[in-house]
Amino acid sequence: MTNTISVIETDISFPCETGQTVLDAAEAAGWAIPYSCRKGVCDSCIGDLIAGEITVPQQGVALGPASGIRLCRARPIANVQIKPRRINARTPPVRKRLVTTVYRRRRVAPSVTVLDLRFPIGRRTPFHAGQFLNVVLDDGDTRSYSFANSPQHNDLAQLHVRHKPQGVFSARILQQLEFHDTVQIEAPFGEFGVDEADTPIVLMATGTGFAPMRSIILDHIARRLTRPIHLYWGGRTLDDLYLADSVGRLARCYPWLTFTPVLSRPDATWTGKAGWVQNAVLADYPDLDDAEVYACGSPQMTQCALDTLTRERDLDPTRFRADAFVSAVPEHSPT
Ligand SMILES: Cc1cc2nc3c(=O)[nH]c(=O)nc-3n(C[C@H](O)[C@H](O)[C@H](O)COP(=O)(O)OP(=O)(O)OC[C@H]3O[C@@H](n4cnc5c(N)ncnc54)[C@H](O)[C@@H]3O)c2cc1C
Ligand code: FES
Repeated sequence: MTNTISVIETDISFPCETGQTVLDAAEAAGWAIPYSCRKGVCDSCIGDLIAGEITVPQQGVALGPASGIRLCRARPIANVQIKPRRINARTPPVRKRLVTTVYRRRRVAPSVTVLDLRFPIGRRTPFHAGQFLNVVLDDGDTRSYSFANSPQHNDLAQLHVRHKPQGVFSARILQQLEFHDTVQIEAPFGEFGVDEADTPIVLMATGTGFAPMRSIILDHIARRLTRPIHLYWGGRTLDDLYLADSVGRLARCYPWLTFTPVLSRPDATWTGKAGWVQNAVLADYPDLDDAEVYACGSPQMTQCALDTLTRERDLDPTRFRADAFVSAVPEHSPT
């Protein structure tokens, strides 16, 4: 059965097949709604159900009007009218499911592994800097990881994986992967990425939130762009900034790139910035009038950065983009 989804205050409407989510139906019809995890964890996709009926797995039926609906989980069971936070026309994404092979696995910090995957010969997978892929586990569940390589190298994927205590992928599967083992992925996903403009860019990362920032910087280099980029990379100790030396080298080569490492628990020898990344940005930028800000990493940092910079620096929220690295499973949920 096909239901129709219409968007209030617009003339946008599109079909939705039985079992399809609002987000999937919108994408298939060429409409982009904000999202990140696609699993009901991050709230990026929240919108209102103005009228009609939907089901949400494990939650049951909701009848409009209802607010705070996660459109990545909502499956219409009648014609519905919705109000997403944003909706833009977009070419439907071309996603591929691929069986990749492990090329290299390196532990670059006590709790971070860099995993290099190669795609099958001839299976290039175009993506843009800032997007992510899903690792598909044997039971069909997925784990999201940002591409850390440049989009010009789209026959491979470099992942920066933080080890989560008892994490199914990071603590179990990843640790046993050997050269030439296979990993199933689906790609590309994600809305995170830099718009084409000339204004300065402020990138804020914590931990492995550096991965998409690396892709953005490498893309900039490959395209010979000179738009100013200032990367703030925060961690507790220097160990958390697992590739700080290589970013420092890039910053010395490219005058448009500034790198500021920020430690929240530095030792006595640290002479750089201390504290939270968002406070370091506040201290350096008395105004952010013409800047665009991109934040990636812990949900606490991305939320706090949005609150702080919009409040203290009048940053227009439409010029702030973020991907929060939420867990596939809410960490406070009962087991
Ligand atoms: C768009 C996006 C991009 C991302 N990119 C990256 C990236 O580049 N690098 C990166 O390191 N991370 C990234 N993440 C985060 C990463 O996808 C999650 O941390 C993921 O859950 C890790 O998978 P895992 O199998 O290792 O751990 P999981 O098995 O998902 O476990 C995560 C945590 O939840 C706990 N847990 C597991 N099951 C339960 C349960 N039933 N009840 C309570 N607690 C439980 C575990 O102990 C663990 O601490 C990204 C997330 C998103 C949404
Ligand atoms: S994309 Fe829907 S909750 Fe994360």
